[in-house]
Amino acid sequence: MLRVGIIGCGKIAELRHAPEYLENPNAEIAGFWCYQDVPRAESFAKRFGGRAYETVKDMLGDPTIDAISMCAANTFHAQTTVDALKMGKHVLCEKPMATTLEDCQRMADTARETGKVLMLGHNQRFAKAHVAAKEMILAGRIGRPLSFITTFGHPGPEGWTGQKNSWFFSKDDAVFGVLGDLGIHKVDLIHYLLDDPIVSVSAVMDTLDKTYPDGTKINVEDNALCQFETLGGVLGTMQVSWTYYAREDNSTRIYGTLGTLRLYDDPEYSLILETKGGKQEKLALDLLTSNKEQTTGKRTNTGVIDAFVDAVLTGRRSRIDGDEALKAMKVIFAAQEAASKGQKVQIHQV
Ligand SMILES: NC(=O)c1ccc[n+]([C@@H]2O[C@H](COP(=O)([O-])OP(=O)(O)OC[C@H]3O[C@@H](n4cnc5c(N)ncnc54)[C@H](O)[C@@H]3O)[C@@H](O)[C@H]2O)c1
Repeated sequence: MLRVGIIGCGKIAELRHAPEYLENPNAEIAGFWCYQDVPRAESFAKRFGGRAYETVKDMLGDPTIDAISMCAANTFHAQTTVDALKMGKHVLCEKPMATTLEDCQRMADTARETGKVLMLGHNQRFAKAHVAAKEMILAGRIGRPLSFITTFGHPGPEGWTGQKNSWFFSKDDAVFGVLGDLGIHKVDLIHYLLDDPIVSVSAVMDTLDKTYPDGTKINVEDNALCQFETLGGVLGTMQVSWTYYAREDNSTRIYGTLGTLRLYDDPEYSLILETKGGKQEKLALDLLTSNKEQTTGKRTNTGVIDAFVDAVLTGRRSRIDGDEALKAMKVIFAAQEAASKGQKVQIHQV
């Protein structure tokens, strides 16, 4: 049995981590810590089990806790993850991994040195159509991948957290805007699907529409567009947005020498394989639940918690460990640099 302490009592803890630990027969919730809000940690403990911890130090020092789920705001991820690993805890950390490249490196290094599991919550890898697409690519169904288009957009984090002006809109607390919030999911997905790291990026990003209550624009970007090249020479684009107001779009297309894979871009079929000769294979595997659906009670198990519990209890390597997440974060930092300099940036991927 894995005993887990959950750090942060926001939406991701409430809608994914806590209920998914409850659903896993091999996990048990030891308790919650909430930033500046002990009563909220108490209410989570009452609802999901365990107890409230007054400080992070208390939680990390609890010898009955085996693992930590890091669900607090972005700037909180790095130091607490490193401390937890050094204190012998396994860590499941939400994306984005950390807010500086040095911190991401430190997290990956500490996991390697301590031998503890560090897994990142890159849940796109568990979506059924993405898993099936990877198998099809490996089986050569689209031939050699040549290019891709991927996008992730929704009406913005305020629809998810229910707060008009949360830490997501603060450069001090979030550091990234939509690029780190949604872009990291798609970069990691491309790495997973192609098994071919992105090594150069050009990007533009801007704050097009989101404002603070006083009407001034938020100080992080709400839209970003990137052009990528992988080590193997695949070219692709990524568009991420907090201003897709009508409908969430979480789709990806991979174009190969023999055909095209269309993922989550059809309302009925989550995977469509179109081949050069005009044949179509349509699979209704699952549909990604939008933020709106998740916050109004339609919850599906992401598979992230089960994979983390499994990695710890079996000793099998986590599919999204510190080194893998570092590769994706390098692309995010390079995209920020490319956008600010207005030039292409090369990425050193080992
Ligand atoms: N995997 C995913 O798809 C996914 C989806 C949403 C959020 N997330 C990530 O989960 C984390 C939490 O996001 P959320 O949606 O639950 O947000 P939220 O606003 O609902 O909750 C944030 C939590 O962090 C705490 N917090 C706020 N500012 C803080 C600070 N400066 N230091 C420490 N804690 C602070 C809040 O008290 C709250 O407990 C973020 O890193 C976010 O990027 C991941």
